[in-house]
Amino acid sequence: MAEKILIVDDDLDSLKLIGLMLQRQGYEIVAASAGAQAIAKATAEAPDLIILDVMMPDMDGYEVSRRLRANPSTQDIPIIMFTAKTLVDDKVAGFEAGADDYLTKPTHPAELASRVKAVLARRAAKRGAAAELGTLLAVIGAKGGVGTTTLAMNLAAALNSTSEGTILADVRPGQGSLGISLGFGRATGLANLLTRPITDLNPRAVGAELVSHKSGLRLLLSSVRPREANLNMAPEVVSGILRHLRGLGKMVVVDLGTGLSPANQRVLREATHVIVVSEPQRIPLNMTRALLNDLNDLGVGPGRVSIVLVNRAQSGLQISWQEAEQILGREIQGVIPPAPDLILQAVEAAQPVVNLQPDAIVTAQFQKIAEKVVSQVGDSRKTG
Ligand SMILES: Nc1ncnc2c1ncn2[C@@H]1O[C@H](COP(=O)(O)OP(=O)(O)O)[C@@H](O)[C@H]1O
Ligand SMILES: [Mg+2]
Repeated sequence: MAEKILIVDDDLDSLKLIGLMLQRQGYEIVAASAGAQAIAKATAEAPDLIILDVMMPDMDGYEVSRRLRANPSTQDIPIIMFTAKTLVDDKVAGFEAGADDYLTKPTHPAELASRVKAVLARRAAKRGAAAELGTLLAVIGAKGGVGTTTLAMNLAAALNSTSEGTILADVRPGQGSLGISLGFGRATGLANLLTRPITDLNPRAVGAELVSHKSGLRLLLSSVRPREANLNMAPEVVSGILRHLRGLGKMVVVDLGTGLSPANQRVLREATHVIVVSEPQRIPLNMTRALLNDLNDLGVGPGRVSIVLVNRAQSGLQISWQEAEQILGREIQGVIPPAPDLILQAVEAAQPVVNLQPDAIVTAQFQKIAEKVVSQVGDSRKTG
């Protein structure tokens, strides 16, 4: 299929000229003659590239670029700024506003064609690299204490037993209960990575911080030393660590704890799939609805989110599956039954329940959710 290019220019002659040139090269062309229209078309048409004029009456190209970059659905579209100005300052402003390349008018057709080709090739290479990365499954709680860590650990264990190469990452410095549950006394992996210069972050350095559980599951652990909660969780660093993990394992499960910190927001946007954990009670369900709304605003829509309720204690007053779906306005993908004794036993044995008791009812539920997520991820990958 031809790549689609959105050309934005208030000068109609220039719009036609560039459009014709690129059409001859085999591209599909969409045009806009004003800033607001450009944003609307970028959202509706999802072009592969935008060629953007700077000087326009309603909204200049810098502002258009900034708005496109602020919207999750358009933020990754490459932009070539196109303008009559030749001042260096304007180029800098263009790059700061998010442009990938810069062209000055009048441009030679050959130069235009080669820049367009180069930017599109870079984008294709980036996408190819992303397609080879392992799946990133982000697990986040609607509030603390609902069973997020227990679910993340058992899903990872279930996934690792069907397809080896699963990595479980605990990215909550100072609150890393996962290490304790699995029998690791010292858990310095994440802290070591967060405290080294970003230039030292590479696949080898990240791989060296992984520890192996006796079940074969590989882990990146956070400590439980409270003061480590102050470590700088720079979004680009956390994202970089997870990207390297995705190069080391086919499946990476990350326990995000709770809340939309800048780092969590970044991870959620980059995740292949997100599991929101809650419990069948009114307060957590309302908090879940609020979280789902915020996720939606981040560009993480229903197609990429599964909801799992953990029923930690049986009670006659808990909310039914149907009523919970009504409160959430969404389907629920799974419910984990109470298993208090088994979970305590599993901690004593330093093993996930899934490994300790393969025949338990709760194990079957963890496995079912793991299977559902795998098939959903597979489907969304196929349809792009
Ligand atoms: N299915 C379950 N049945 C009973 N207790 C559970 C279940 N899942 C988790 N728990 C318990 O709930 C508490 C919180 O679990 P945890 O996974 O640490 O939650 P979070 O990560 O959301 O804080 C723990 O004491 C854990 O043992
Ligand atoms: Mg937890």
